[in-house]
Amino acid sequence: MTATGSVLITNVRPYGDGEPVDVAVVDGEITEIGSGLTAPDGAETVDGRGGVLLPGFVDLHTHLREPGREDTETVESGSRAAARGGYTAVFAMANTAPVADNSSITDLVWRLGQEVGLVDVHPVGAVTVGLAGEQLAEMGMMASGAAKVRLFSDDGKCVHDPVIMKRALEYSTGLGVLISQHSEDPRLTEGAVAHDGPTAARLGLAGWPRAAEESIVVRDALLARDAGARVHIAHASTEGTVELLRWARSQGIDVTAEVTPHHLLLDDSRLETYDGVNRVNPPLREERDKLALRQALADGIVDCVATDHAPHASQEKCCEFSQARPGMLGLETAVSIVVETMLRTGLLDWRGVARVMSERPAEIVGLDDQGRPIAVGEPANLTIIDPDSSWTVSSDDLASKSANTPYETMTLPGTVEATFLRGRVTARRAAGSPSEVEGWL
Ligand code: DOR
Repeated sequence: MTATGSVLITNVRPYGDGEPVDVAVVDGEITEIGSGLTAPDGAETVDGRGGVLLPGFVDLHTHLREPGREDTETVESGSRAAARGGYTAVFAMANTAPVADNSSITDLVWRLGQEVGLVDVHPVGAVTVGLAGEQLAEMGMMASGAAKVRLFSDDGKCVHDPVIMKRALEYSTGLGVLISQHSEDPRLTEGAVAHDGPTAARLGLAGWPRAAEESIVVRDALLARDAGARVHIAHASTEGTVELLRWARSQGIDVTAEVTPHHLLLDDSRLETYDGVNRVNPPLREERDKLALRQALADGIVDCVATDHAPHASQEKCCEFSQARPGMLGLETAVSIVVETMLRTGLLDWRGVARVMSERPAEIVGLDDQGRPIAVGEPANLTIIDPDSSWTVSSDDLASKSANTPYETMTLPGTVEATFLRGRVTARRAAGSPSEVEGWL
């Protein structure tokens, strides 16, 4: 958490506004913004080549798979993927093996993240022991450990018992922590592998109805209201969830929500090929859900983008659709998908991108050193995006140990040029057009 760097970043446009400027950073803090600046003593210079400078992204929903499935991702490989995606902080989900339901595991993940040092890795603690949904985990111990866990989730599974969820919300309020709910009524999704709609019916795939998500969203909003608690909705995926979030806000209920890049870009028309890479929870929905989610993100009804980066081994994805593990890679493609779906459509400008990918997620979990303004005296957690460049996704070139990207061979707009964690360069694309020069320094 403490290692800092000094650097001169030249020729960048903060938030994409105005003429290019230089940004000087000393010991992890922005000391000057202007033109013709000289490099601080001993500092390297990074040429931003006219790119857009944004606060480093914060991901509230990442699966790093360590401990337990280091064959698919590690804290190190996931941190590298995050830095290349423009991230400076990620929250690592608790569905590891063993489950992160105690402070030995959460502190281990925290320490691994610190050792790697490419991104702040904040472990998420499980809400219930073993994600079994029956007994509350020692949330207080995890919150007071070295990792200072501030976000709890059984993600991958829903905390479906209303009594357990009610207690968890009451407990979270006292601890000043936040619960992120994977909203899925398990009775309504038994055997389900795809969105319950005409496409799944035609393809003979068992359907996951919207109501399975929406019934938990509204239930938890009511439980949060009565507990005077906050609740966060992970990977919102339906038009109805957007309406329920709007209603909950209108009632003054403290509910926040995230949407994944894949739910902004893709829909269930992708299932035609039966390719397991498209299986994900919640499932890819219909066109109208996708459009409602984009509008909700623009309006602030959905607060932020979170990747749900979910690495899986090839044998777990290259198999019969109904046998494929749910989940998609997301860290290295997220900003490009946001550029494609939100910026190019005019729904957000670059300030809006900074809001949904950095500022709001940092606020939601109370990180005081991330998602900060680009201003003198602020921590230099930053990323540079080339808005005019594009790249063709190839899983071979990704830093992730897994290859389950749904965007393979797609050409996407916007490239991350460099990322800085407290002034240290954590990712830097090699000079030259990405189509000419593949690779990172
Ligand atoms: O698709 C998903 N994959 N959704 C989840 O909620 C869990 C995740 C995983 O861990 O693979």
